[in-house]
Amino acid sequence: MRKKFEILLILFVLLCSITKTFGHVNIVPLPQKVVEHSGNFTFKSGQCIGFSDVTLKDAAVYLKHIMIPTGYRFTLKKGSGDINLILLSKADRQNESYTLSVTNKKIYIKAKSYRGIVNGISSLRQLLPEQIEASTMVKNMKWTVPVVEIIDKPAYAWRGLMLDVSRHFYTKKEVERFLDMMALYKFNKFHWHLTDDQGWRVQIKRYPLLTEKGAWRKMINIDQICMNREKTENNPDFVIPKENFKVVDGDSLYGGYYTQQDIRDVVKYAAIRGIDIIPELDMPGHCFAAVANYQYITCFKTPSWGALFSAPICPGRDVAIDFCKNVYKEIFSMFPYGYVHLGADEVDKTNWQKCPECQARIKAQGLKSEVELHSWFVHQMEKFFNANGKRLIGWDEILEGGLSSTATVDWWRGEIGDVVKKTTDHGNEVILCPTTYCYFDYPQDNNTIERLYRAPIVPEGLSDKQLPLIKGMQANIWTEMIPSNARLQFMAFPRALALAERAWTSTNLQSWEDFSIRLQSQLKRMDVMKVKYRKLETDIK
Ligand code: ACM
Ligand code: ZN
Repeated sequence: MRKKFEILLILFVLLCSITKTFGHVNIVPLPQKVVEHSGNFTFKSGQCIGFSDVTLKDAAVYLKHIMIPTGYRFTLKKGSGDINLILLSKADRQNESYTLSVTNKKIYIKAKSYRGIVNGISSLRQLLPEQIEASTMVKNMKWTVPVVEIIDKPAYAWRGLMLDVSRHFYTKKEVERFLDMMALYKFNKFHWHLTDDQGWRVQIKRYPLLTEKGAWRKMINIDQICMNREKTENNPDFVIPKENFKVVDGDSLYGGYYTQQDIRDVVKYAAIRGIDIIPELDMPGHCFAAVANYQYITCFKTPSWGALFSAPICPGRDVAIDFCKNVYKEIFSMFPYGYVHLGADEVDKTNWQKCPECQARIKAQGLKSEVELHSWFVHQMEKFFNANGKRLIGWDEILEGGLSSTATVDWWRGEIGDVVKKTTDHGNEVILCPTTYCYFDYPQDNNTIERLYRAPIVPEGLSDKQLPLIKGMQANIWTEMIPSNARLQFMAFPRALALAERAWTSTNLQSWEDFSIRLQSQLKRMDVMKVKYRKLETDIK
């Protein structure tokens, strides 16, 4: 009898775990608390999406847009509806938490901010069948979500992805598709690497050559490598899209750029989805596309492509500093978010050693070296950022030669913990994006996702004063070897989901085994979206 009872108990526990993992709720990133009940809410044509406050109207329109594949007609109204978006009375813009209650008659998403509401919408979207991700109407579907109670909040305020659009260019539409994916997995920071040696991608009205010329280049080594890989690996994702070429004086030039209107459109598109955009115009290095067209901003004229990395901006010249500030002034007017990225990585300082103006600046400012000159440049720019109401982020090179008290550091290099310890010891904020785990341009194998899920991204041994200075996590996607949107999707997904969960879900709730099961249902979603993600078991690198 006792044995029979034990077998029944085991069967019951097994059944419970199967219904938990194979049930309806397979949300990524895992919410803090999910309580499933029996029953469903069924969507029908004519239902109303109600919003409690006019500031939520965009979120209601966004939800209606998500529901397009149902083919149903949804009405929107301020007040109560069948699906309700409710801003709680103590509104708090920083608070991204939400609750999602589904009963068999109504749905309620409640939050203290627009962001929280949008996070609730992402969870609701993942409760729907994966066909909701189709681009057109899907017939003969029953559109239901399970009765459930979700209470949720993020572990980290910064959950970012960085995309380099300089080495290879992605159209406005492609960037928007990328933002759609970010929103689905509750990423909230899009770091847009807009300029580099290989191309300047944002219109600056005061300096038109930056895009007239700086956005276009002849084919270079990175393109050749992509074309070779297309052939040797027989992989069409390495084809460089024809749309990104134009012919000028018989030369075929690769490139593209965003107009200021494009940028404003993308900023709005992201804001509706709860995403801030951090623009980066990399300076004083990595800016050949600028110095080649405005030669007075570098130490020695006529820099050649061969001198790519050795022609940084000249911090000895006031006109060069003015150029940098003028460019950023236009950037500030396009990007409302409070944080802006200066770059400041990998600067070859050889020219600065030889340049009389750089040496004069070192002397006049009482600096000890070119490393301190770099730091002086960063501080000049930071003062300018701050005077315009912006906060500066830089790659971890900004630690060298003296960190200001207010800059935020992107940790990308070196031993686990070194940069994080130094930055937080200094009292500054840090974003974790170490090369070892968070460089999504690095090749993948079949253990990449699990390695990332279990990675020691947050260093051990930090004090209670240091830990709150960790703003969050980010993955970076450098695109030298990523010439197409298909290749971008292959490199970013599904590994981005592991990072999303690391950054959103409390560590004590993270479980690789549980995540792997929920991941399966997300892959089905990506299949419907026609995202060319990397299949879990494959030889393709
Ligand atoms: C970097 O990867 N150069 C920040
Ligand atoms: Zn100089």
